[in-house]
Amino acid sequence: MTKNEQYFSINKDAWNKKTPVHVESSFYNQEAFLNGKNSLNDIELDLLGNIQDKNILHLQCHFGQDTISLSRLGAIATGVDIAENAINIAKQTANQLNLQTQFICCNIYDLSNYLNQKFDIVFTSYGTIGWLPDLDKWAKIINHFLQPNGQFIMVDFHPVVWMFDNDFQQVTYNYFNTGAILENEVGTYANKKTDIQFQTASWNHSIGEILNSLISNQFSINSFDEYDYSPYNCFNNTIEVETNKFRIKHMGNKLPMLYAIKATKDKT
Ligand SMILES: C[S@@+](CC[C@H](N)C(=O)[O-])C[C@H]1O[C@@H](n2cnc3c(N)ncnc32)[C@H](O)[C@@H]1O
Repeated sequence: MTKNEQYFSINKDAWNKKTPVHVESSFYNQEAFLNGKNSLNDIELDLLGNIQDKNILHLQCHFGQDTISLSRLGAIATGVDIAENAINIAKQTANQLNLQTQFICCNIYDLSNYLNQKFDIVFTSYGTIGWLPDLDKWAKIINHFLQPNGQFIMVDFHPVVWMFDNDFQQVTYNYFNTGAILENEVGTYANKKTDIQFQTASWNHSIGEILNSLISNQFSINSFDEYDYSPYNCFNNTIEVETNKFRIKHMGNKLPMLYAIKATKDKT
């Protein structure tokens, strides 16, 4: 096994452990979701626009709420995730709701072994590329699955957020990618009180690294935005400044907390 294969295996185990806790959590509120709540936020909804009848590939879909939400908005959606516990729940949920959402369980780097189709939109959001070692390879995969002129839409936590310790007291990690960060964790952002334990391997990717991976793989950047709040209460020491807008209390509006990218695959 290569080092990266070991890291993927560690992360797959971690997400398999987190999934049942997440499905039961008030954070993900699966009951409200089953009753019709759309899990997508305004930022990505605005970027996606009208997705009626669009073919959408959703990378790192976890247990499928956002992918199924895309289907509920009229898209023909396919979600991909490495954790089989997550994909099993996603498939069950789509079945239960009588929706045609497709799900594939694999490492996104291996996706071309499982899927032979081109999409209008590739979408990924909130807690994604930090699990990926190689963004050049990631951008090549996005390019591969898009039609010419197809769109890539992404919203994620800002790399500045990942520089801090869990309580946002000090700068602990490098802004730039200096290789895998290996950690032992207890609990998860969706349920901080649970005692599940797991190891993770993650990578910090700077904004320059993210944008250049797309630019050097035949994408034009249409928009890049940064936000001073998170729509999720997933960090420690937060304050809700408006409904569903969370900041780190002692940081006020000084930190960038999210970024959003819309990019188009070049025609040739
Ligand atoms: C924080 S979730 C992001 C999804 C979404 N924002 C949510 O909260 O439902 C991260 C997901 O990435 C998946 N993941 C991590 N590494 C992956 C890889 N190499 N290939 C595919 N999925 C991966 C995990 O299994 C997990 O479900």
